[in-house]
Amino acid sequence: MGIKEGKSFCFFSAKGGVGKTTNLLNLAGILEQLEKKVLVIDLDLYNGSIANALNCDFDKSIYNLVEDLFNNRFKNISNYTTKYDEFIDILPAPKDPRVASQIESKYLNDIINRAKNLYDVVLIDLNHSLDENNLTVLSNVDFITFMVTNDPLDLKNLKSLISIFKKLDIKNFKVMLNNSRDPFKDYYSPYDIRHILNHNIDYSLSTDLFLQDMEVYNIKGIIVSLDRQFSSIMASDYQAFLTLATDLLGSGDKNE
Ligand SMILES: Nc1ncnc2c1ncn2[C@@H]1O[C@H](COP(=O)(O)OP(=O)(O)OP(=O)(O)O)[C@@H](O)[C@H]1O
Ligand SMILES: [Mg+2]
Repeated sequence: MGIKEGKSFCFFSAKGGVGKTTNLLNLAGILEQLEKKVLVIDLDLYNGSIANALNCDFDKSIYNLVEDLFNNRFKNISNYTTKYDEFIDILPAPKDPRVASQIESKYLNDIINRAKNLYDVVLIDLNHSLDENNLTVLSNVDFITFMVTNDPLDLKNLKSLISIFKKLDIKNFKVMLNNSRDPFKDYYSPYDIRHILNHNIDYSLSTDLFLQDMEVYNIKGIIVSLDRQFSSIMASDYQAFLTLATDLLGSGDKNE
């Protein structure tokens, strides 16, 4: 693999359980269809579920990588990643959450930047807390997308989060409205949502993407967007991910 100048991305949200992990993997699937090499880093350190969602057995996690950086034994990210398929690798969260606190924010920029030299895209899975690790990632990634559902509390919380980001001078974010998480919640129209947030809805996932048999995909370790029929059956969602992937690939590099 030659040296790449990849892009880094994360979803973030004001509330847990809004579909960040599920759709980070869908985005990985779309990037695979664009023949991009993708690394998914699981930074939901205490509840990491990427390896389980993809049925990936692994020996090494981001904890081993950090340990080796600390001891000056680190050589190459590929010693810690696990292959999902020809295009997608993962860097899992530790199996034992008790070691998660040792994965400190000071290592994260270095890991992301090294990964960008090997992959076209580095996708980072975060939880929704605004802690030091997440803030470090959010300040460093090339592109952020807030995921929000049609839920009054989620929308109000995102409005506050957007104003915090503006104060922190973090501007490289877009907003994705996820109607597939709770398809029966539709309190507000897109017009209302834009007004509540005082921000555009840049991408929308439709209720078509709500899958009653989502657990079957998890049991089999399959990414929904890699289903051969995804682009025809869920055409508007395919288009939303394609637009997001194109925006991400064309985004400016934070480090330049
Ligand atoms: N399109 C969908 N259809 C059916 N179930 C879904 C869909 N999207 C997400 N879910 C389910 O909703 C739950 C939350 O999704 P997910 O884990 O992706 O959210 P999250 O934002 O990553 O949560 P957390 O903040 O805890 O990391 C999961 O059980 C997931 O399987
Ligand atoms: Mg998650």
